[in-house]
Amino acid sequence: MVDNEDVLRALAGVKDPELGRDLVSLRMVDGVSVAGGKVTFTLNLTTPACPLRSRLEKAARGAVERIPGVEEVEMKTGSSVYATRDYAQADVLKGVKNIIAVASGKGGVGKSTVAVNLACALAASGAKVGLLDADVYGPSIPLMMGVRSRPEVRDERVIPPVAHGVKVASLGFFYNEETPVIWRGPLVAGAVRQLLTQVDWGELDYLVSDLPPGTGDASLTLAQTVPLGGILIVTTPQDAALSIAAKALAMFKRLDAPILGVVENMSYFVCPHCGERTEIFSGGGGKRMAAERGVDFLGEIPLAVSVREQTDMGDPVVHSKPDSQEAMVYKELAFKVAGMLSIVAYAKMKK
Ligand SMILES: Nc1ncnc2c1ncn2[C@@H]1O[C@H](COP(=O)(O)OP(=O)(O)OP(=O)(O)O)[C@@H](O)[C@H]1O
Ligand SMILES: [Mg+2]
Repeated sequence: MVDNEDVLRALAGVKDPELGRDLVSLRMVDGVSVAGGKVTFTLNLTTPACPLRSRLEKAARGAVERIPGVEEVEMKTGSSVYATRDYAQADVLKGVKNIIAVASGKGGVGKSTVAVNLACALAASGAKVGLLDADVYGPSIPLMMGVRSRPEVRDERVIPPVAHGVKVASLGFFYNEETPVIWRGPLVAGAVRQLLTQVDWGELDYLVSDLPPGTGDASLTLAQTVPLGGILIVTTPQDAALSIAAKALAMFKRLDAPILGVVENMSYFVCPHCGERTEIFSGGGGKRMAAERGVDFLGEIPLAVSVREQTDMGDPVVHSKPDSQEAMVYKELAFKVAGMLSIVAYAKMKK
């Protein structure tokens, strides 16, 4: 007769290759029950956007199926996201598990586009996601997410509107489109702090934060107000962008903000007619820069008309065309980021 111990013993033989421990000691196995030859259990991943999801599912199922006497395996997959930081003291942020900042050296390299697609991809995987527009000078998130109305304010808390499954907050909600934004340092810092502390974020697995370009007041304030789970640096392949991205990287490294890695945007163009790939700005720069600076390289994003069109329409490509090549690239990036955050969180838990 098979019993619970047999099942746990079999699953203790399966390792999570990234965390380097077995599924049982990682508490990734829940609700084991055995009835005759039928085993039921839940595989509880560290994030629904787990890059190893199918591999772990296969390994766990296989291990249980191989137990002599097992005839049927009913495995459910769930997740409970690891937290890289503890925001328990931070009032409205106390339900937030991970804050990810998307930064760049140069402007216009595609940070906001990465941020919206990253947020949409994480939300589509089943995670609870927020998107904070810390670009107080040129907030573009409301347009890119298609949110126009002013959010409701209740008990001095802003209730973030939900777009494509993501809670969104931006000072853009309160601006008049015609008025230029000319702000000085202290005001910028105050605005970023307000977005962090006066928005009712609730429970979030990931809060993605879109920064203005460079290492100015908004970036500094964000990193100094709350400990960040990780920073993603976006660059384009041109030399100018790369060298400024390297400077931004150096600045964030000095703050207590773990760098998740570098992503290269507009790496290549895929002809929508013939499918041919052209490296318009010559490729490989982002990868080289990451290697030189000792950080991870997280991927190349193509220059694609649909990416721009969809963000202009307020419906990011990951949400509006989830099966397109472009969407897949952003999704893969999102899964990598989620996986890396799990690793960072696990390393902290072990200490
Ligand atoms: N991979 C891509 N393919 C096609 N267009 C893109 C891509 N990435 C970004 N764009 C377009 O390039 C422009 C700039 O992108 P985005 O606003 O995301 O950059 P940014 O780094 O946030 O800029 P800023 O520094 O002004 O905040 C936008 O019009 C966007 O739609
Ligand atoms: Mg932007």
